[in-house]
Amino acid sequence: MSPFARQNGVLHAESVSLIDIASHFGTPCWVYSRHALETAFDEFQQELIGLDSLICYAVKANSNLAVLDIFARRGAGFDIVSAGELKRVLAAGANPRKIVFSGVGKTAAEMELALGIGILCFNVESAAELERLDAVAGRAGKKAPISLRVNPDVDAKTHPYISTGLKENKFGVACADARALYRHAATLANLEITGIDCHIGSQLLHPAPFDEALDKLLLLIDQLTADGIVLHHIDLGGGLGIRYRDEEAPTVKAYLQPMLEKLKERQLQVLLEPGRRLVGNAGLLLTRVEYLKPGEIRNFAIVDAAMNDLARPALYGSWHDIVPVAPRSGIASLWDIVGPVCESGDFLGHGRPLALAAGDLLAILSAGAYGMVMSSNYNTRPRAAEVMVDGAAANLVRRRETVEELYALEQRLP
Ligand code: LLP
Repeated sequence: MSPFARQNGVLHAESVSLIDIASHFGTPCWVYSRHALETAFDEFQQELIGLDSLICYAVKANSNLAVLDIFARRGAGFDIVSAGELKRVLAAGANPRKIVFSGVGKTAAEMELALGIGILCFNVESAAELERLDAVAGRAGKKAPISLRVNPDVDAKTHPYISTGLKENKFGVACADARALYRHAATLANLEITGIDCHIGSQLLHPAPFDEALDKLLLLIDQLTADGIVLHHIDLGGGLGIRYRDEEAPTVKAYLQPMLEKLKERQLQVLLEPGRRLVGNAGLLLTRVEYLKPGEIRNFAIVDAAMNDLARPALYGSWHDIVPVAPRSGIASLWDIVGPVCESGDFLGHGRPLALAAGDLLAILSAGAYGMVMSSNYNTRPRAAEVMVDGAAANLVRRRETVEELYALEQRLP
């Protein structure tokens, strides 16, 4: 059942009316469902029963402490990409031994911090990073656990900005170079090779590219075994897509089963780094119509959320369903749902058939992933509040910023 369903015509989050949330917390406002987050996580857990495995939630998708807390309580690990995310997951109660550190640009300071904390693994993305990590670990008197992120050169068939597993992408080490780099890593005194990693892209809607990537990794693992390099884990990355409009996203079972089948005979712990699939459909952005501006060519509904809140439509041309919280009767017209920001790219949806009046509340759906985390203060707009609904309770999990906070770090000239 959807966490966002109608009761007496009014859209609710679990059992809380979105009208009540808007009047209590104001708009724009992010609304998450605890139940939906837990259900999405459990769908992965279910497939991994009896298997030596770890779900490392990709924090970048939604890093609110309450979201992290929910996953940490269910035993999740975390995939982080910065010192900021590292501190965040620790603040949310993460177990350091369940943290993997991805990203092409780890600084020496970030490495030091992560080594001190004792994370599970560094997913190393280049030869240069390997050298730096070895040096930093040496200075710290530690051994850094590593896997190489291998770029398997497969086409994830997704938006070019979120495709990461092709030769032309900046991510990982080319498959052809990986064996030599592993052999080199094995000679470095301050590194301990523990695994192998790949992540080929985001919002993937077919299991085939995942499977293709795995085949390439397994081939490499066999070569490494022949070289005397024995791995402890394989990290299959994230990337499983969700439904935004009418996509047929695979079930977690359909995505994982073929890969788990191939891994059955291998003594490898399986790591996953799902982000969007755990949080995307568990959140929405609640906004209010400020003005209607019907025109000769287009009709604009100007709402109080904007591209600074939800950047995905402007950035990727992505589609989010937009539905009225309390539908009104009357004839629907086609509306462009736009924000108050001074750019034509400031839209949340184009040509949506809706019967609207000023003051109406709209819900922008499937906004739980890469929503709040990518928001900005463009136009000196405070970032929206975040609310986590849990049954009949609506908990404020990040209050709305104030305008004064936005320039509190700035100074006029002396
Ligand atoms: N692991 C690594 C190393 C990643 O780079 C990513 C996402 C993930 C895991 C999680 O992928 P997911 O399961 O969420 O697909 N802002 C874009 C998405 C960027 C994804 C970046 N990497 C969007 O709004 O669609």
